[in-house]
Amino acid sequence: MRMLVTRREHFSAGHRLYNPGYSDERNAEVFGKCSNPSGHGHNYVLEVTLEGSVDPETGFLFDLKELSGIIHKSILDEVDHRNLNEDVEWLRGRNPTTETLAQAFWERLEPQLPAGLLSRVRLIETDKNWVDCTRD
Ligand code: NI
Repeated sequence: MRMLVTRREHFSAGHRLYNPGYSDERNAEVFGKCSNPSGHGHNYVLEVTLEGSVDPETGFLFDLKELSGIIHKSILDEVDHRNLNEDVEWLRGRNPTTETLAQAFWERLEPQLPAGLLSRVRLIETDKNWVDCTRD
């Protein structure tokens, strides 16, 4: 039997999606509303899933309060109410698509967790669009 536990968190952040090598018209064509140069934001939902076995002593796979603390410290404290194009050192120079963000979040979380435990990072940008990042 596989056992997975998930912590859901929220944050709000601004971004502009664009490729600096594209014209404004091309950026608008490819990235739509998210390429608006005036910027805009999303209320993101971040779900972090761990997979492993249950500790017989606690009955937990992992303490989700502790997981929440790790998510806040390594991600949310740095991205909440920020401009994702400008304000976050480890995102600088990266086009902040949902895919890019999910991958960057995975890279931030994995070293903070026991080896092999991180199973999925799901980043929901809108109720219609989300990205899952999973172990290879
Ligand atoms: Ni957007």
